[in-house]
Amino acid sequence: MAVLLPLLVGLLVSLLGGLYLLGMFRKRKPNEPPLEKGFIPWLGYGLNFRNNSVELLKRMQKKHGDIFTIQLAGYFFTFIMDPLSYGPVVKEARSKLDFVKFAQELVTRVFGYHAVENDLKILGKASTKHLMGDGLILMTQAMMENLQNLMLHNVGSGSGERKWQEDGLFNYSYNIVFRAGYLALFGNEPAKKRGSTDLAKKHDRDHSEELFQEFRKYDRLFPRLVYAVLLPKDKIEAKRLKRRFWNMLSMKKTMEKENISGWISDQYQYRLEYGLPEYLQDRFTFPLLWASQGNTGPSCFWLLLYLMKHPEAMKAVVGEVQKLIKETGQEVKPGGPLLNLTRDMLLKTPILDSAVEETLRLTTAPILIRAVRENMNLKMSSGKEFAIRKGDRVAIFPYVTLQMDPDVHPEPEQFKYDRFLNEDGTKKSDFYRNGKRLKYFTMPWGAGTSMCPGRFFAMNELKQFVFLILTYFEFELINPNEEIPAIDPNRWGFGSMQPTHDLQFRYRLRY
Ligand code: HEM
Repeated sequence: MAVLLPLLVGLLVSLLGGLYLLGMFRKRKPNEPPLEKGFIPWLGYGLNFRNNSVELLKRMQKKHGDIFTIQLAGYFFTFIMDPLSYGPVVKEARSKLDFVKFAQELVTRVFGYHAVENDLKILGKASTKHLMGDGLILMTQAMMENLQNLMLHNVGSGSGERKWQEDGLFNYSYNIVFRAGYLALFGNEPAKKRGSTDLAKKHDRDHSEELFQEFRKYDRLFPRLVYAVLLPKDKIEAKRLKRRFWNMLSMKKTMEKENISGWISDQYQYRLEYGLPEYLQDRFTFPLLWASQGNTGPSCFWLLLYLMKHPEAMKAVVGEVQKLIKETGQEVKPGGPLLNLTRDMLLKTPILDSAVEETLRLTTAPILIRAVRENMNLKMSSGKEFAIRKGDRVAIFPYVTLQMDPDVHPEPEQFKYDRFLNEDGTKKSDFYRNGKRLKYFTMPWGAGTSMCPGRFFAMNELKQFVFLILTYFEFELINPNEEIPAIDPNRWGFGSMQPTHDLQFRYRLRY
């Protein structure tokens, strides 16, 4: 017995330790938000969240109101459901609420890249210089040239290309915008290498198509990759794809191209200066490709679909596009020069801006997550303070609590292209909840330290795509009565949403 006793005590201690780690003993303390641990130790509500986070959060909001803590796969997440209380979370110092730690873990798990010091600093520096302000002039031009190569290379060829072509609207939009965005950022095949400009352009079309097909395979695995629940065969496929991207986007291959954007080349340069080895440089381009190309294409699909399904919106946008083309002295006609759409022209489209904003409100649903680095208090707009524990996570999900709130946006399920326009046609930015003016009234780009640095470029990409398709193409849904598809619930939280299924459409060049 004397021998057994220490063994039993040891076992008991390990068991209790294990249960503690699984969160079994966690109890709500005074001043803490309501706590929901679920019935399954450690996992908590993990499965419900993965299957449909919107549904789970709405249920919890109904039960607990504006703040609660739920256990999700080992972590305790405190969700702030009152948009008037977002400020403290978004603005809190990194020493208390940290985005970087969470992002680094995700990037390692999903893209196989181990973050190094200064990564975000380098990203921020290159983004401010090349994706904002005057940097956008060059980027807009590069995007336009590549969109034209992909969409209009047959214009005026008179080779019978005016025949109708059929495709899925989602597939078409994603494909074109992904490929053009990729070429604009990562560069073009040099004409010298292929022997002629035409052959180099054809290479760009073929190579970007191959990359898109591989990207979509990874894209489909993405939600399960994030939750680390891939089947063994999918794990093998994800590994193969990752290696393929590291190779296709390697620094060596990219540097052989021409017209590489400053956003990419500066980042290579800065990382070289910090001594990042070449194999890590190759790996880092994959998350860059992901962040830059995973959202814009799906958003273009929703925008075009909403316009097609709302004739009054389509009419207003077409009117604005035609007026702007005329005002800049251009005319799109058979045999004429291709449309020159500049960054400055894209600054004069309030109606299209509002339609884009409305599309993003309805179909962009990122969850903003911060790691809690020290015990702290969160003050809600009601004045009440809640204690938050070190080691937990704080999260906000603006799609549920803001973008679809009928108090903020009446009839939130409806697409109203002019929702973000004042009566005098200027941009509307005063929205209210409980009679109080909101600082954040829609948040497709996130906010604070993790806010999307590509948002201005992305807005331009969306508008350029719509401009070209409205100007150069006739297009229609094969079944005009087909309903707008629902959002795929597996992707909640990951930025631009995707539809549960595609819709067939047909299109042909006007000229
Ligand atoms: C409709 C298109 C887009 C949407 C809706 C979107 C949305 C977002 C959101 C919500 C985040 C923040 C995620 C978080 O807080 O965890 C983000 C981050 C980011 N986005 Fe975008 N984005 C779009 C297009 C782009 C484009 C075109 C680029 C680059 C050319 C880009 C580059 C990035 C990068 C690099 C980050 C990471 C920032 C960081 O970690 O600090 N995005 N995006």
